[in-house]
Amino acid sequence: MKRPATTTPGSVPSPRATDTCYQQCILPDCGATFSLDETLPLCPRCGNLLDVAYRWDRLPVPASLAEFERKWARRADPRSASGVWRFHELLPFAPLEACVTIGEGQTLLHPADAVARWVGMKPGGLFLQYEGMNPSGSFKDNGMAAAFTHGRMIGATRAACASTGNTSASLALYCAVTGLMKAVIFVGSGKIAVGKLSQALDFGALTLQIAGDFDDAMARVQEVSRELGIYLVNSVNPFRLEGQKTIMYRVLEALRWEVPDWIVVPGGNLGNSSAFGKAFFELAQLGLIDRMPRLAVINATGAKTLFELYENQHLRWNGGRPDAAIADAYSEKMDAEGLRASTIASAIEINRPVNLMKCIRALEWTDGVVRHVSDEAILDAKAQIGAGGMGCEPASAASVAGAKLLVAEGVIPPEARVVCVLTGHQLKDPGATVAYHTSDPEHFDEVLGSRGVRGAAFANRAVTVGNDVDEIIEAIRRYS
Ligand code: F0G
Repeated sequence: MKRPATTTPGSVPSPRATDTCYQQCILPDCGATFSLDETLPLCPRCGNLLDVAYRWDRLPVPASLAEFERKWARRADPRSASGVWRFHELLPFAPLEACVTIGEGQTLLHPADAVARWVGMKPGGLFLQYEGMNPSGSFKDNGMAAAFTHGRMIGATRAACASTGNTSASLALYCAVTGLMKAVIFVGSGKIAVGKLSQALDFGALTLQIAGDFDDAMARVQEVSRELGIYLVNSVNPFRLEGQKTIMYRVLEALRWEVPDWIVVPGGNLGNSSAFGKAFFELAQLGLIDRMPRLAVINATGAKTLFELYENQHLRWNGGRPDAAIADAYSEKMDAEGLRASTIASAIEINRPVNLMKCIRALEWTDGVVRHVSDEAILDAKAQIGAGGMGCEPASAASVAGAKLLVAEGVIPPEARVVCVLTGHQLKDPGATVAYHTSDPEHFDEVLGSRGVRGAAFANRAVTVGNDVDEIIEAIRRYS
């Protein structure tokens, strides 16, 4: 099999004039284009991120989103059943028959009135998009199906990622199920929740625990994959983000193709927020939606680079001319002060998000906002979500904590229609859940008190009883 091409400036073939799909630098002033069979982590001309771009006028795009409903009748075909590939016409970078699926994207949008009440919203207005139901238990499978499709197109035999745990679990799963590539994963030492680590190990991935955090692992994996010609499946890979666009198509599908007022999403490496912005921008371009939702990206307080840059330092996309010096100066400040990300929401414990510029662009397209929420607010939100029957991991709950904050601020009106994305399953990080609900103060302090969490307002503590029928009956009488 052919080794993936490396990044040599000047040697990169431009797409042919007949190509309906190609890669393109996100900065309009550069606008360099590259063919699909290149694996370019960044634009070789200017070093910025790349998009997958389409010549829509030469592609068969449905006249209305409702046309996708026809696929439901063909669910025996795995690509019509896939929550990613049933929207193939909106991410047509590979022929349908070449698209890789393991059954990703069978996820639902759930009305959540009890959570809505807690958030301060009217009943009927809050929905939770539960991406924890994906095969590896997180939204990453949407993007991995697309990255594997591209990886197979270019004949890659090994794939690598740096991860806070979910990308690695997804990569390891796709490798194990498809046998198309071998997985090499880079994780920060002690920085990954046990459920996620167990998946990578069980699925047989080569797991490298780097003495550092996610930001270190991300830097190393880019260097190593370039050196060894390994296919990189982090969200810097633009094909990953094509798959993640489909989360928003499913949201629209569940809302009978009506655009909600707000999409609220946790922000880590900023792949989702970037992909969601692109999804809506393209739908508007194609005349398939008549308005844009507003995007709210929620950082954890211990990892709030996006918040700092967007809300405090006013870094803006600026129609394609962002002031990159603002981001560079902040990066230098983090270096100088030795600032490291730290949050119980380990999935978003990231200080140097690779998709920063795409996210800033998405925020411009959607008139978006950024907020940050404390670990305690995240865990309280997670308990409320759990009490409503929708188990999620801490990072996911940042979306609901963020929605609550935005309602309190008056930014989101109580009668708005809001979708919070629950990115990962509860069982990914059982340690955080058990520590929140524990009746053992020492355990609480060790896991959460040490992070500044003062209390667990919605803890459901286990009742300790003797091995004795009378005592058990007494406890049930007292507490039920
Ligand atoms: N929620 C969960 C459960 C995640 O795993 C991640 C990212 C995010 C939110 C943030 O999403 O990067 O698109 O802003 N996890 C990555 C990983 C970084 O390695 O698994 P984002």
